[in-house]
Amino acid sequence: MSSKATGLKGVVLDETRIALIDGDEGKLVYRGYNIHDLAPHASFEEVCYLLLCGSLPDGGQLSAFDAQLRASRAIPQPVIEIIERLKAAHPMDVLRTAVSATVALDESSDDATIEVALPAGIRLIAQAATIVAAMHRLRNGLEPVAPRDDLGHAANFLYMMFGHEPSVEDAKIIDLDLVLHAEHSSNASTFAARVAAGTAADIGSAIVAAIATLKGPLHGGAAEAVQKTVEEIGDPDRAVEYIKDKIEAGEKVMGFGHRVYKNEDPRGQELKGIARDLGHKRGNDRWFQILQQVETAMEPYRAKGIYPNVDFYAGAVYSLLGIPEEQFIPMFVVGRMPGWVAHVLEQYEDNVLIRPLLEYTGPRHLRYKPIAER
Ligand code: ACO
Repeated sequence: MSSKATGLKGVVLDETRIALIDGDEGKLVYRGYNIHDLAPHASFEEVCYLLLCGSLPDGGQLSAFDAQLRASRAIPQPVIEIIERLKAAHPMDVLRTAVSATVALDESSDDATIEVALPAGIRLIAQAATIVAAMHRLRNGLEPVAPRDDLGHAANFLYMMFGHEPSVEDAKIIDLDLVLHAEHSSNASTFAARVAAGTAADIGSAIVAAIATLKGPLHGGAAEAVQKTVEEIGDPDRAVEYIKDKIEAGEKVMGFGHRVYKNEDPRGQELKGIARDLGHKRGNDRWFQILQQVETAMEPYRAKGIYPNVDFYAGAVYSLLGIPEEQFIPMFVVGRMPGWVAHVLEQYEDNVLIRPLLEYTGPRHLRYKPIAER
């Protein structure tokens, strides 16, 4: 009889040098650097390099890496046509299919080696942003906007979404948001990527598996659910009552709780200040006030280790920047790409097939009956 860990709770899968999460302390560290140190200082491009290559780049390394990202931004015309055909579907279905098509059209990525997967992963980090922006444009009856190579990753993403160059402040907020989402150890989608890579599948297949896994409301879908909750509550004075009803009905409050953090999620702390300041600047303090009231109503559950997670304030930030709810999970993909790529590379480095057991609890000694006798 095997010892069971439902949901793989508390199971250590392997070693990693990419990220450390201390769930009791509420601490997140990328390659040795605390997220609170990286957030105000490092750009998304620097963090990508850090995650993929293992150390912070010097000036020359960063320019070369950034040039590689900028040169990879365009997506093939057939991918744009696929997005156009599927545009009304769930954006994560469109994104998963578009990334899959991009990989299928990239003949040089189909080899499960670090030499092939590193440049292919860099291309996918760049192209994911272009695909998400094209999805948004086509869904709204607009022409996709071609990437510019004179803008940073975050600024170019907003430019492709909205068709005009963003303010420095807005680009900085998206840059920070991408840094905060870049990596989170063996979360469900990264685990899925590692499982695919563990079969010696190519990096594209691993990334598609990760995107598919991120779609669910218990993982990537929570920010969208939080924003819907905020709109449903509508008035800060209604928040406490609303949460009380939810809890009494045995429902989970979206944007709260985490498999690993049993203390404050440090990414949520960073986004909280941004949601407050941005709301104030845009003349919309209401969403932040509602979120604060929800947080207050959830305070008694802190004793159980239930705190706001990264998704709690992310939705308000996106909405204030004009990013629609259906694009929240795709935004998460744009941010998480370097983490997924780094884990696929680490998996290839010392590969082993990932294959846990299931404890069988069904019947054992049934005998086949011909169909006429059933
Ligand atoms: N609201 C109310 N109660 C909660 C919440 C919540 N959001 N989260 C956990 N709890 C309670 C559970 O009901 C359970 O209580 P019990 O012991 O009395 O039965 C206890 O806390 C433990 O919860 P589990 O669901 O067993 O914890 P698990 O580690 O399996 O789940 C998860 C973590 C899935 C994130 C859960 O907290 C949840 O569903 N949260 C809401 C969805 C969400 O915000 N997801 C985003 C996570 S962050 C990310 O992926 C980017």
